[in-house]
Formats: sequence, structure tokens, C-alpha cells
Amino acid sequence: MQTLGDAEITGRSSLEHRVWPHKRYDEMYRRSLEDPERFWAEEARRLDWYETWDRVLQWQPPYASWFVGGKLNACYQCVDRHVKTWRKSKVAIYWEGELGETRVLSYSTLFREVNRFASALQKLGVEKGDRVALYLPMIPELPIFMLACARIGAVHTVIFSGFSAKAIADRLNDTQAKLIITADGAYRRGKILPLKGIADEAADLSPSVDKIIVVRRTGQPVPMTEKRDLELGSLLDEADKFVKPEPMESTHPLYILYTSGTTGKPKGVIHSTGGYLVYNHSAYKWVFNIKEESVYWCTADVGWVTGHSSIVYAPLSHGAAIVLYEGAPDYPAVDRWWDIIEKYGVTIFYTSPTAIRMFMRYGEEWPAKHDLSTLELLGSVGEPINPEAWQWFYKYIGGERCPIVDTWWQTETGGIMISPSPGIEPIPLKPGSATFPLPGIDAAVVSAEGEELPLGQKGYLVIRRPWPGMLPGIYGDPERYKESYWSRFPGVYYTGDFAIRDEDGYFWILGRADEVLKVAGHRLGTAELEDAAVSHPAVAEAAAAAKPDPVKGEAIVLFVTLKEGIAPSDTIKKELVAQLRKSIGPVATPEEIYFTRSLPKTRSGKIMRRILKAIAMGQEIGDVTTLEDEASVEEVKKAHEALKEAIEGAGGKAAR
Ligand code: PRX
Repeated sequence: MQTLGDAEITGRSSLEHRVWPHKRYDEMYRRSLEDPERFWAEEARRLDWYETWDRVLQWQPPYASWFVGGKLNACYQCVDRHVKTWRKSKVAIYWEGELGETRVLSYSTLFREVNRFASALQKLGVEKGDRVALYLPMIPELPIFMLACARIGAVHTVIFSGFSAKAIADRLNDTQAKLIITADGAYRRGKILPLKGIADEAADLSPSVDKIIVVRRTGQPVPMTEKRDLELGSLLDEADKFVKPEPMESTHPLYILYTSGTTGKPKGVIHSTGGYLVYNHSAYKWVFNIKEESVYWCTADVGWVTGHSSIVYAPLSHGAAIVLYEGAPDYPAVDRWWDIIEKYGVTIFYTSPTAIRMFMRYGEEWPAKHDLSTLELLGSVGEPINPEAWQWFYKYIGGERCPIVDTWWQTETGGIMISPSPGIEPIPLKPGSATFPLPGIDAAVVSAEGEELPLGQKGYLVIRRPWPGMLPGIYGDPERYKESYWSRFPGVYYTGDFAIRDEDGYFWILGRADEVLKVAGHRLGTAELEDAAVSHPAVAEAAAAAKPDPVKGEAIVLFVTLKEGIAPSDTIKKELVAQLRKSIGPVATPEEIYFTRSLPKTRSGKIMRRILKAIAMGQEIGDVTTLEDEASVEEVKKAHEALKEAIEGAGGKAAR
């Protein structure tokens, strides 16, 4: 047995019931790389096009345009196509509210609703190319509005309902959205989050916004600003029953979704219409082996890319029946999820390692109370899944019958990139490995110099050629697009992740190689956290680091230097926690705060992050020879000691 970081490789024999070797996959993968244009053209023909493309791929590094000259409509693919068939009476969405209510939308109901919503948008003057911000809870109106935007060619930007007013305003100002769609409130663990109030605060900071549509969910009274704020209900009363889907250029943006990078400003990742849909349609079939009778549940929030691709666009493009759950996973009891699986007869269940680890803590007696025998396939996404959590998931949720697809991908990749693909061919699984790249994905592990590494050596994960789901750019910031993904290894897409391939060629993703944290699967840049901390008036300087967390994967540790003459105190500590929550949202709550007189830096002023990490983890500074900082071993050791002293001198660690 071999150990890689925290993961143990258990060897090919860990699941004997899989076949080996995988002929079909090998053949398809080879074909996809030998003649990618032909391969992707065949995949693209599975969708309906108003006009076919002139060119499959136009590749002017680092810009890729897919299906150039082609025209299609994403809403048509996900809705209209199905209502022309028997699927018109098939369930599209089983919605479960936190309070236990159910709404079942057939594809024809979805068609009717999407048309009315699209008409309401049109009557407000929303046009092709306009950006529309959606700040909504997990209610059917969220996917309906996304599809309604797609229908008329408006570009949606969904903002996670856990974000603060400031985080929302940053996104509104970047997209220059004129319209926010929100709800009166959202239910979370029985409480009501005042979404409209937060949206109002954000709108005050965003001059571009001139209208707010309010969806009624909780029914509580909310302040309505005359002329600016509109009730969805009244708009729908006036709406037409049918709106013609707009034939969109394949390269036209379908949406913008913000994610964290290595600077304080979130990146507006753009996704195209044609490439994104083709890629997701195919990847979904390969990974989830979707069948007509499947009942598919992805527990992600629609506010993240997983929700966009794996709740809305990919499943609905297949005419799948999906479950959408509004509330907290453990409310009102910790078996809520298992209850939902039983209630709707879920066959495919896709969730995150953080959630699995949380349920592990509650114990297997909770899933044991429910009939989970409908499940056929399980999936995991968002962070590395530790083998222990994998085994628990396999045994207690999947009843040792269901394969687990550990899917590696990113906001930028648009769809799943490295994953088992039982829809092509089942392969032997290894707990903790995302296994192999999907067809068309030329993934490799390379050294700092960009050389492909031999099996068994840890390096940087890169993708060596474009794929249709690849982001075409960062909204309004071409320089950042080049810098973030294409400058580290010229001509090659840099993922920001560490990976290793084992002796069988399996890929193991080992976490981020850049200054990005993954807290409960949420992506947060250290720079964002630091910017938020220094906006507190007492703070001179701040640095964020991660420490491993048994449930959340990583937890935030903040190092803070206070301004001259200001003494550390519990009050400052509390204010700092509040500051981060206010600037970003509750996901940014630090686990620990250290006050320190200084931060360890290299001669050029770069923070020595490994030292912070070592302190956060309570470790000595181990093998410093691998440090990427431009400091000598001696300097690093000295800086480590100095930081320990500086923390002592400033009053020491301040646990939350
Ligand atoms: O570090 C990788 C981790 O999540 C990052 C992408 O985050 P985000 O853009 O928020 O998208 C998450 C959902 C698609 C990656 O760079 N990550 C994602 N999936 C996995 C993973 N790490 C290990 N294993 C995975 N299956």
C-alpha cells in the first residue's frame, strides 16, 4: 500500500466487481484525441441547432471558440425539445421545501412557466446580451428564471444566497446588471434569511440596478421601493403564454458565474452557449449513465457551478427527472436527506465530501432508518474525498452496490473533467481517486518547468488542449484570463491544483497549489479574506491560511497585525469575525485568529505562506528544501521562530 499526502492508495483490488481493462473507454478516449473536431462534431449533433456550425473549433491560444457560426438556444434544449415528445408529461423537477412542501413540475409545466417568466422579462425591456442577477433561494423559480434568461438571450449571473450585500454589490457592479431577481426571504434551519433586505443594501451600492423583482416564498412583508421593486406575481399576470426562443450564436455567453482566484476581486467566469451545452450534455451521460427512468439528485446549491451544470443544464438537456431541495441537510432532523432519497426514489445521488463527513459524524443509524434501495450510482464533487468518507458513503448510503463517481472539475471547466465514466464503461474504482479524464480531456501532471512527470510524482495538474466546456474568458478582464490560466505554463491550461498519477495511471487530486482555500467545498481566495480583514480600522496587515478540518476539509486561520498602539482584545476578535461575514458571507468565518506583531516575508515582501500553514497546523517547519519562496532554509527557520515569538508577544492565539 502506498500513501499520497493524506490519501492511502488501496490498490486495484479494492473493488473486485469492476471489469478490467476498459476497452470501450480506451477506444473512445484515443479517438477523441486523434481527431477532436470530428469527435466533438458527433457529440454536438446530439443537440438541436437552428444553424449548424462552419467550424468546430477556432483555436487562437488562449482563446477557443466552439461550433463557430452555429446557432442554438439553451432553454429550447432543456425544455421545448422534451415537450414535443412523450416527456411532456414526465417529471422535470421534484421540489422539496424545507418545511416539507412538495411541488412537482412536469416538462410541460416547466415549459409554461419558463415562457411566462421570459415574457415578464421581455416586457421589462430585458434584451439579448443584458445581464440579469439572480439572488434566490433553492426554489423552482431559480432554474425557471435561468432558463427564461437563456430563452431570450439574456446572460444570467446567479449569486449564491449566502453572500453578503457587499459581495453581491461587487458582482452587480462588475456585470453592470440592471435587474436583480430575489425573494422576500429564504428558509434556512427554520429561520428566515431576509434576502430582499440584503438585495436592497446591495442595490444601494450598485448604480446600474434599476429594477428588483421579488418572488414570494415566505410571504413576510418586505419594504418595496416604488417604481423600482416589482412583484413577480403581478408581472406574470400580464405575461404572454409563449415567447419564441432566441437563436443564439454558439459563442454567445450563456452566463457569468463568479469564483475566487488569487486576488481579492472575484473572477467573472463566462460560459458560452454551444460549447458549454455540448460538453455538459456529453459529460453527464458518460459520468452518470443517465436513463429515462433515473431520478437524479444533486445536493449542490444552484449558486455554484455544480448547480448550473449538474442541476440545471446537463440533466434537463437530457430530459431527466431531478430533485431540488431547498433547505439545510440536517433539518429538522439529521436524516432529512435520507428521507428525501426514500420519498422520491432517488437513483443517482451526487453530493460533497464535506456533507458525507458530516453525516458520518451523526452515525450510520440515520440512513439505516430509510429504504435507500433505489440508489444505483453515487457521486462526489468539490474537494478531495478521503478514503474513509468514500468507504462510508459506499457502505452506508450505497449499500455496497453503487459505484461512486468522484468527479474533478472547476467553475472554469464548465463540466466534469476527470471522473469514472460508467456511462461509457465501468472501471475499477479506487477510493479517493477521480480515476481518468473524460474523452477529449488531455489532462497531465507536470513539473514546475512544465515537463510531464513520471507516474508516482506529485506535480501540477494541467489540461493540454481546449475542450468545449472551457471558459472563453473572464468578464471584462482579458489580462486576468491570460494571467490566471495560461501564463504559468504557456499554451497549456493551468488548473491551480496539485495531482499525482499512481502506478496504474489513475489521477489523484491533492488540493490547491495556489492561494485558494476550499472550506466545506466553497472556494475562497486568501486575498479576499485578507482584504476583508484589513478593512477593519484596527488592522494593519492580515494573512489567511488553511488548516485541515475533519469535516470541512479546510478551515480558515487568520493572522493579524494590529496598528501601532492597539492591543489585541476579544472585542477586536469578534469584530473581525463579523467583518469577514459581512464582507463575504458566513462561509468566510475564521476558525482561529492569531494576533502577531509581524508576518513572515521574503525579501521581496511576499508572505511566506508555508510558515503560516505550519503554525496553523501546530507543526514544525518540515522539509523546507521544497519551499517555493525565494528564501534560504535558514531564513525560513528564523522567520518561523520569529513568528512564534511575535504571536506570543502580541497575546497569542485567539480561538474563535
Ligand atoms: O481544487 C479542486 C477542487 O475544487 C476546485 C474547483 O472549485 P470550484 O470552481 O468551486 O468548483 C467546484 C465544483 C466543480 C478544484 O480546483 N475539486 C473539485 N472537485 C474535486 C476537487 N478536488 C478533488 N477532487 C474532486 N473531485
